Amino acid sequence: MPDTQAAAPDARQTLRQLIRQRRQSLSQDEQQAAAQQLVARFKEHPEILAAKRIALYLANDGELNPLPAIHWLWARQKEVYLPVLHPFTPGHLLFQRYTATSPMLRNRFGIPEPELDMSQVVPHSMLDIICTPLVAFDAAGNRLGMGGGYYDRTLASWHEHRLGPLPLGLAHDCQQVDAVPKEQWDVPLPQILTPTRCWDFSRLDEA
Ligand SMILES: Nc1ncnc2c1ncn2[C@@H]1O[C@H](COP(=O)(O)OP(=O)(O)OP(=O)(O)O)[C@@H](O)[C@H]1O
Ligand SMILES: [Mg+2]
Repeated sequence: MPDTQAAAPDARQTLRQLIRQRRQSLSQDEQQAAAQQLVARFKEHPEILAAKRIALYLANDGELNPLPAIHWLWARQKEVYLPVLHPFTPGHLLFQRYTATSPMLRNRFGIPEPELDMSQVVPHSMLDIICTPLVAFDAAGNRLGMGGGYYDRTLASWHEHRLGPLPLGLAHDCQQVDAVPKEQWDVPLPQILTPTRCWDFSRLDEA
């Protein structure tokens, strides 16, 4: 048995593989139903209803698909933004306006993103909500992502000072686990939406 020191990369990697397989094995029908249920969650979410600029993502690897929710947001005149890999600063994301006519490219992970146009990029502080994909979450809001640290970096100032956009995790219910092995740089999420419910962890804040 490995010892139980804080850094346990194998445990994180093993959990990533397990939960990624779990979400990848959802059927197309299940994925579509989940995506529609997410729209229903958005319709009753006070911060989403109040927001003007919302960052989302395009689903990859069996992630909960926000596209129907994006269409609903567009119909309500909300501005939608997508992450773009920063061209010069590795590990960082830019957020660029996404419309039905945005030219798209595949990034080096094979994920579609808007073709970089700095006139359409906003500073993080201009966003009201950043919806993050995730691989696994637990009942304290701890988040395991795909392993790039992109969202941990994006949300670092929110974590340290509660400054900036509200982080909102999006996940299938089957991505919940007993405990995510946490590292010091991981940013726990204050809220997570799944197709069936809104988890609110903000009362667990120590501050
Ligand atoms: N705020 C940060 N500053 C510098 N490096 C960071 C920061 N956050 C995470 N990292 C680095 O990123 C790497 C990946 O982190 P981690 O395994 O937590 O990714 P993840 O949360 O699964 O990915 P993502 O956020 O992209 O979904 C780690 O090596 C970590 O050191
Ligand atoms: Mg992390």
